[in-house]
Amino acid sequence: MVGLDADIRKVQSLERSSSYVEDVPDSALEAVSGRLRPTNRYSDLGSCNAVILCVPTPLTRQREPDLTYVVRTTESIAPHLRPGQLVVLESTTYPGTTREVMRPILEASGLRSGRDFFLAYSPEREDPGNDRFGTRDIPKVVGGDGDPAMRLACAFYDQVVARTVPVSSTDAAEAVKLTENIFRSVNIALVNELKVVFEAMGIDVWEIIEAAKTKPFGYMPFYPGPGLGGHCIPIDPFYLTWKAREFDLATRFIELAGEINTAMPRHVISKLIGALSERGNRAIKGARVLVVGIAYKKNVDDMRESPALKIMELLEERGAVVTYHDPFLSEIPSTREHREFAGRRSTALTREALADIDAALICTDHDAVDYAALVEACPLVVDTRNVCARLGLAGDTILKA
Ligand SMILES: NC(=O)c1ccc[n+]([C@@H]2O[C@H](COP(=O)([O-])OP(=O)(O)OC[C@H]3O[C@@H](n4cnc5c(N)ncnc54)[C@H](O)[C@@H]3O)[C@@H](O)[C@H]2O)c1
Repeated sequence: MVGLDADIRKVQSLERSSSYVEDVPDSALEAVSGRLRPTNRYSDLGSCNAVILCVPTPLTRQREPDLTYVVRTTESIAPHLRPGQLVVLESTTYPGTTREVMRPILEASGLRSGRDFFLAYSPEREDPGNDRFGTRDIPKVVGGDGDPAMRLACAFYDQVVARTVPVSSTDAAEAVKLTENIFRSVNIALVNELKVVFEAMGIDVWEIIEAAKTKPFGYMPFYPGPGLGGHCIPIDPFYLTWKAREFDLATRFIELAGEINTAMPRHVISKLIGALSERGNRAIKGARVLVVGIAYKKNVDDMRESPALKIMELLEERGAVVTYHDPFLSEIPSTREHREFAGRRSTALTREALADIDAALICTDHDAVDYAALVEACPLVVDTRNVCARLGLAGDTILKA
């Protein structure tokens, strides 16, 4: 088994069986250390029967699909392609990528897809931090460039996961992944909108969701929050938006969901500003605000596209003095959108630190935070995740947003 990455630090880390992914313990790497050969040389792929690509698929600054990584990696594989090999793309992307972008690059080698080598698409469905469903339990959707490729890819994944789900083409498999992520984005936007509307009516959206989800059919709970985060849900839907333009079609649900979700950080800030002024007689300018949880979701150390960073930016623009606490991120890494925060360090939740704070703003509800201490010490706690209520913490100083 060969593990190839362009980043030599990751290769070296794998050589030491040292994991750089929060969710993967070192022990999992130690268990395969004799069988896994980490490398950054594409020539090592010649010995493989199957080559799986899982490189980033971000958006450009103009919010268009950035296939640079997919193209570059495919170009690097092409010279080492050999008859009989199976090549599978797992990166999230728009329908047509495997067939229209990858196939011509690989066929420039003189080998033909479906005859000499086999090309397939099978989306990654990993859910970091999910204790219930690991790689083996999550069914794997597989589409091939032709039937033989689909069957070969299914035979390959059948050895790894409990169930493979064949679909008719690589385009169909690509569309499945986008459908799943668009479904999440639209439903999160819906509850975010409901949150704002119900709030104005004095109704707690969290109570409503808890009651609605007792319906045993036809309803699935989604939860509001401070905005969308992660490298999937805020980005992937726009891959379809871009591709739909080629067919003169608009993706209005996707755009609307994007608009509503993007407005959430501002909504949270305006609630914080209102509460500071009404309850504490305090202006946002000069107020000391502690942002609790900056990862994009609970119990992970990943802060790609995290709304917490947007919230920190908006607070600082308004003159607040912002610190943060996150048990998973002792220091903020450099991010594409917010380089200005790189190197800032997490504040320990000591009595002294908390005594200095005008408001705590919970953006991510990591389990390893002492919320009771936070509520006891802070004059105002703005909770975007309903974690205080879930823990039975109540009081006038807690505000849901
Ligand atoms: N992480 C998840 O939970 C998850 C879940 C579902 C789908 N996905 C999708 O999987 C894809 C990858 O996501 P990720 O989170 O693993 O990204 P990542 O940035 O963590 O990892 C991608 C790796 O690809 C390497 N790389 C980039 N260019 C390369 C090249 N030319 N040759 C060799 N290696 C190269 C990078 O060094 C990096 O280590 C994306 O399309 C994403 O949407 C990820």
